[in-house]
Amino acid sequence: MTDTALLEVRDLSLSVKTDAGVARILDHIDFSIRRGEIVGLVGESGCGKSTVVRVLLGLLPKGAQIDSGRILFKGVDLLTLRPKDVARRIRGRSIGFIPQDPYQSFNPTFTVGKQMLEVLRWSGLPDEAPDTRWTRAVQARHRAKLIEMLEAVNIADPAGALERYPHQFSGGQRQRILIATVLACQPDLLLADEPTTALDVTTQMQILHLLRDLALDFGVAVMMVTHDFGVVAQLCDRVSVMYAGQTVETGTAHAVIHQPAHPYTERLIACHPDLSETIVGIPGQVSSPINPPMGCRFHPRCLIATDACADQRPVLRTLEGAHRVACLMREAAS
Ligand SMILES: Nc1ncnc2c1ncn2[C@@H]1O[C@H](COP(=O)(O)OP(=O)(O)O)[C@@H](O)[C@H]1O
Ligand SMILES: [Mg+2]
Repeated sequence: MTDTALLEVRDLSLSVKTDAGVARILDHIDFSIRRGEIVGLVGESGCGKSTVVRVLLGLLPKGAQIDSGRILFKGVDLLTLRPKDVARRIRGRSIGFIPQDPYQSFNPTFTVGKQMLEVLRWSGLPDEAPDTRWTRAVQARHRAKLIEMLEAVNIADPAGALERYPHQFSGGQRQRILIATVLACQPDLLLADEPTTALDVTTQMQILHLLRDLALDFGVAVMMVTHDFGVVAQLCDRVSVMYAGQTVETGTAHAVIHQPAHPYTERLIACHPDLSETIVGIPGQVSSPINPPMGCRFHPRCLIATDACADQRPVLRTLEGAHRVACLMREAAS
């Protein structure tokens, strides 16, 4: 693993015009991912995690506008590329995506193999020229690659699996097949948006461990989107915590879990039965991105907020090493 960042998201702000007013959905988001690393993007539902994923895939919501920031991927700012070029050169090739719900990811009327081949035909293998023709030889090569990948994700009888239809597989198997398809394209970065929430608990753990093992084997970096600090503890090297569209804390998973600095991170970890002895929820809910609270967006739910927190937006400051927090109260204390 090298130390250079594969992805650097700096000061990213995004707003969307809605009928009810302008929604500032991302407000100074800031994190990075190094090659081969698994980074958790964590926050409650409504914090803007999926919007970050969409922006990275070049899929801005309708009416959206970037207000500030840069997204450096392998040194190129994705925000300076035309959406067309992101679609053609990046999405599905060097950045792969695993969605939340494997039940909605397949067309029921075609075999799994036909759909997987279609993805690979479109993305091509990294050693193929962009204008490679879809000859029988290329097709056979892609098929062999898919069989190899289905084996890697523990699908029994891979050649037979290609001939079957989506409904013949369980949700967990479908998610494995999706992972195989995405990894066959050999991306540098995999975005997984809560990839196991639609599955039952035992399957969830199997899929997460499979993802971690494959990421290591294939040297793929993973951005794991989750609301669950248990997933971070099991899987992630580093973590970035989001609250209501703002990055509130980043650091190694170990430091953030054992010495959380932001009151929101503390409360989120305290919600988790494996990580906390006394489980307490967080009263209230994530504020709307339309007319959000001034200053720190968490202040209305924060137990240690003062008047200053409602006035001034805290910026990320380094605590120690890579551990950074955006909280006026923590700044005052240190
Ligand atoms: N296209 C859109 N137009 C208006 N609001 C949106 C749009 N997409 C997302 N939002 C709002 O942005 C916030 C963040 O949404 P999302 O990124 O889906 O969060 P998460 O994935 O963390 O649950 C939510 O309040 C959501 O309602
Ligand atoms: Mg989401």
